[in-house]
Amino acid sequence: MFTYNPKPQFLKNKIILVTGAGDGIGKAAALSYARFGATVILLGKTVKKLEAVYDQIIANGGADPAIVPLDLAGATPNHYAGLAGSIEQQFGKLDGLLHNASKLTDLGPFLLISQEDWQSVMQVNVTSQFNLTQALLPLLKKAKSSSLIFTTSSVGLKARAYWGAYAISKFAIQGMMEVLADEFENSGIKINCINPGATRTNMRAKAYPAEDNTLLLTPDDIMSYYLYLMDAENCTEHGITLHAQA
Ligand SMILES: NC(=O)c1ccc[n+]([C@@H]2O[C@H](COP(=O)([O-])OP(=O)(O)OC[C@H]3O[C@@H](n4cnc5c(N)ncnc54)[C@H](OP(=O)(O)O)[C@@H]3O)[C@@H](O)[C@H]2O)c1
Repeated sequence: MFTYNPKPQFLKNKIILVTGAGDGIGKAAALSYARFGATVILLGKTVKKLEAVYDQIIANGGADPAIVPLDLAGATPNHYAGLAGSIEQQFGKLDGLLHNASKLTDLGPFLLISQEDWQSVMQVNVTSQFNLTQALLPLLKKAKSSSLIFTTSSVGLKARAYWGAYAISKFAIQGMMEVLADEFENSGIKINCINPGATRTNMRAKAYPAEDNTLLLTPDDIMSYYLYLMDAENCTEHGITLHAQA
């Protein structure tokens, strides 16, 4: 297992936005970035969960985080423009963006994917990430060096029957990352994808309700990868997909 041991405060004065920061892998990433000194912007759907992460960061001695309650299913380009404006006003730049939140509907045959499920998965997993990236790229460009991380899945690289809209959305995310990485090849922005692999979270439990989840790695176990990709000054990767459990 890869272990990354950066300097204790390597993210000091860095502003990092994490989507889906209230639970699962996003929560672990937000706490890890804060532990290494970052000011974390916690974006998510359920305010109570975000507040719990906020409290934990403060209890750990981290920098004051910011909370952005936003349901990506209903957010419009205006919401993202407003968010970019607030970040610019408060911080003047953005050093990192982790696209982590995503939606998984019930698994099932392609012919039975409803219009509603298709639209909502594409909205949360693809369109919102397109809009958020467009709104925040100018701020990532303002940082000396910055990192943009997308989250994929094994079924977004080699599709599997019954994973329908979710798998297709992750293929789109892989494409988005590759287009951007090529476009920003010689810039100060590192752009990559991470595939966390089977990890003990609510989403995994929804997909595999019968498995013994004590056999799975936890979000904390895979944080080295999230720290490495966020370390824009030392990460040598650009335009790749890092597999946390290859
Ligand atoms: N766990 C795995 O085994 C695994 C494997 C491969 C890839 N992944 C990917 O890893 C990422 C994190 O997954 P996870 O397992 O940590 O999932 P999770 O435990 O279900 O957490 C997902 C987070 O995203 C938030 N979220 C979901 N829909 C949202 C929306 N419409 N607006 C704003 N926030 C929303 C959730 O907020 P609420 O809690 O408020 O709903 C939650 O904080 C996802 O991109 C997933 O596809 C996970």
